[in-house]
Amino acid sequence: MTDHIELINTLKETRSLSDEGLKALMRGGGECDAALFSAADTVRRAIYGDKVYIRGLIEFTNYCKNNCYYCGIRRANQSLQRYRLSADEILECCAEGYSLGFRTFVLQGGEDPYYTDKVFCGIIERIRAAFPDCAITLSVGEKPKESYQAYFDAGANRYLLRHETATDAHYRRLHPESMSLENRKRCLYWLKEIGFEVGSGFMVGSPYQTPDDLLRDLRFLGELRPDMIGIGPFLTHPETPFAGFENGSFELTLRLISILRLMFPYALIPATTALGTIRPDGREMGLRAGANVVMPNLSPVRTRKLYELYENKICTGEESAQCRGCLERRVESAGYRIVTDIGSAKRETKR
Ligand code: SAM
Ligand code: FES
Repeated sequence: MTDHIELINTLKETRSLSDEGLKALMRGGGECDAALFSAADTVRRAIYGDKVYIRGLIEFTNYCKNNCYYCGIRRANQSLQRYRLSADEILECCAEGYSLGFRTFVLQGGEDPYYTDKVFCGIIERIRAAFPDCAITLSVGEKPKESYQAYFDAGANRYLLRHETATDAHYRRLHPESMSLENRKRCLYWLKEIGFEVGSGFMVGSPYQTPDDLLRDLRFLGELRPDMIGIGPFLTHPETPFAGFENGSFELTLRLISILRLMFPYALIPATTALGTIRPDGREMGLRAGANVVMPNLSPVRTRKLYELYENKICTGEESAQCRGCLERRVESAGYRIVTDIGSAKRETKR
């Protein structure tokens, strides 16, 4: 226990730790975890107070040309009814979100060729014109640099692209040969270069993942220095090649949220839907472990169940206003407060 306290203090003071130290914190357990969560909460409160930022998630297409082995909306899942939202429907989701106090919209979807650059930029331009005081976040996967530039020029300002795993051999076990870690990383650096606020992250407990892989994830984030870091447990989906694998560990995900908060005090870290799916109070516990963002769903109720990345995904039956209200209560019960501003990552002036 004393050793753990020393490790936590070193990480808190210096924002860095040896590989062995990080692995010991990942193993955690019992009182060590309580001390780790508490240190992360102290750091988060020093920078962000009790504020929790909300982002309105619009899952606008479940078509995808990719076949990631873990993902329920992968191309090869033929049992899934596919849908896409029109520009008008997306705008309606934004309008409803705006009236509920959202000032960030996250457009997420599979890699769907229907939304050519022209079509997608048209949608971004319409959102930008209608909601000039809002952030537009995109999460639509790997694209050519020119496409990212076009989205940025059309008015988008943030981009979420999890690297998924920073270990090449592990990446190849999670994805078909047509995909590569090299390209995923290249995309992340392009996005930064273009001027997006960038979010990356990884799944915890994905099949074949080792503690060394997680270590490489943390080190890669140290190189990339994203504004946002999204992590969540891997959750199985029966219609994927990983149907027989166990879910990732809830406890390990919480420990990693805290480790990330201590390594990257200024990061925006969501308490993800996957965390709320694996345990009913998962998001509240994620907030107490250092997370400071929640992403309620603004998608139309009729399509929600169809964006099934994994089994038993929560929040698929509620209207947007219900989701917003439910999360507000959950955030308050955890001891924090939802704020409706645009919520960019704070940056330090000097160190
Ligand atoms: N197509 C975009 C992309 O590739 O970034 C965005 C959509 S993708 C479904 C969003 C994220 O869902 C992925 O980055 C992945 O980490 C997560 N995800 C997919 N399947 C999952 C699963 N079975 N369990 C947990 N998270 C999963
Ligand atoms: Fe494309 Fe999951 S395989 S979004």
